[in-house]
Amino acid sequence: MTTEANSTTSLPEPSEGQPLEDRVNNRSQRPSSEAFKKFMSSGWAAESGELPEPDAVAPFAARRRRALSERFPGERLVIPAGPLKVRSNDTDYRFRAHSGFAHLTGLGVDREPDAVLVMEPTEPGAGDDGGNHTAVLYFRPLAGTESDEFYSNARYGSFWIGDRLGLAEISALIGLPTRHLDEAETAITNNIGDPQFGGISVRLLRSVDEMVDALVDTVRYNTALDPENADLSALDALDGELTEALSELRLVKDEWEVEQMKAAVAATVNGFTEVVKALPRAISHPRGERVVEGAFFARAREEGNDLGYDTIAASGNNATVLHWIRNNGAVSAGDLLLLDGGVEAESLYTADITRTLPVNGTYTEVQRRVYQAVLDAADAGFAAAKPGAKFRDVHAAAVKVLAENLDAWGLLPVPLEEALSPEGQQHRRWMPHGVSHHLGMDVHDCAQARAELYLDGTITEGMVFTIEPGLYFKDTDLSVPEEYRGIGVRIEDDVLITADGPVNLSDALPRNPGDVEDWMAGIYAAE
Ligand code: GLY
Ligand code: MN
Ligand code: MN
Repeated sequence: MTTEANSTTSLPEPSEGQPLEDRVNNRSQRPSSEAFKKFMSSGWAAESGELPEPDAVAPFAARRRRALSERFPGERLVIPAGPLKVRSNDTDYRFRAHSGFAHLTGLGVDREPDAVLVMEPTEPGAGDDGGNHTAVLYFRPLAGTESDEFYSNARYGSFWIGDRLGLAEISALIGLPTRHLDEAETAITNNIGDPQFGGISVRLLRSVDEMVDALVDTVRYNTALDPENADLSALDALDGELTEALSELRLVKDEWEVEQMKAAVAATVNGFTEVVKALPRAISHPRGERVVEGAFFARAREEGNDLGYDTIAASGNNATVLHWIRNNGAVSAGDLLLLDGGVEAESLYTADITRTLPVNGTYTEVQRRVYQAVLDAADAGFAAAKPGAKFRDVHAAAVKVLAENLDAWGLLPVPLEEALSPEGQQHRRWMPHGVSHHLGMDVHDCAQARAELYLDGTITEGMVFTIEPGLYFKDTDLSVPEEYRGIGVRIEDDVLITADGPVNLSDALPRNPGDVEDWMAGIYAAE
């Protein structure tokens, strides 16, 4: 049978009646009798009332809030977790809090949709831990079994989504006072106004929760001395400074964060091992890249919370596509597989590691040549990543090595010195991205930090960032000899800066081409 687009498509006649919002009931019948409600609200075991032990993150999160408090005395700080996000119709994505909120509260995994952290200014030094604020976490605890919501609300009822910790329990866990979300509006808006007239200035982490944005905007407008002429964009600038401060607060990781990064890296290393085991199946599958992606994802969910970002499982020419996340290509013996993956731990810290593997276990001569150049560039990046050096030096050192190799292979259209000059940069045709970025709760962490602390900043003990040079020769690139076309190589490691220099957190994964081949062979031999 053939299908023809214009054969029998037609719509039923319109009819009056049921409002759109009621149509959710069209696909199933929900009992609404009083007898059912009465039965559903009784006969459930009482909750234990036992409080959890304090989480190890609690004192670290308190220190982070204390540092923020120091920066903004006298001002109210509002940091939302963000709402659930609709994936399609009435199904949501799994919840993940904004990283700035998670950093200040210590709440990882899926806690807590719609929550808001409010840091209320106090007299100087009279706040939490001698700071300038007292912090309160507002969230919506799940309704007890006495409420209809328990069984009737598929988005928030524990009957549907499972138990969550209540107000007292979260408070015990993270050492913060907690209150019902219903009280947040007053806490956020109370007495906002011009400090000259006794009002409180508020700073908001914007664009996380539209409802909170609207609330703050409305109250700012209504309390402006001259609303019609109020410069609300100047107030937005206050918010921008808070966003920036939250990003900069994460540039140097504390000990607890370093442990989380190590755990995320260890789970990611296991994910790479699973991918090697899955390669024979990937080769035999028309969408082998999906086999690779799935093998890695299984580890991310088994050992962590999720992926830190969509996995790049790129084989053959797809490895030259920097953000290849479609992952629907074949994986063929003789090609390379560029795998860029990161497991996000339950604490929300993520690894970001890339290895470029020979699909059949052995690099060809030209693949190895390109690979070795990228490895030498990575090593030059490591050598430059010393405390006290500039962040941008890492990039410059790695890219210089790549340019030298491209020159030696006769690929640069101009002399090496000209390519390396700011006016040249022809080598970037094959290496167009940055060599390093900060890493933490966001794969591209600290992205709102000022340039003088990031790209132009100084490498400092406690920083964690990637070193990830690559070379990418597209199969359509007529400027290189044919043997290079369709080869993409990246090697990406996660680096912790210590007083003694950089420590490669991801060195459990082999990097030298011979070691990669031996590692793959060892995995197959052990199966
Ligand atoms: N996986 C994203 C990156 O390497 O930056
Ligand atoms: Mn990266
Ligand atoms: Mn990466």
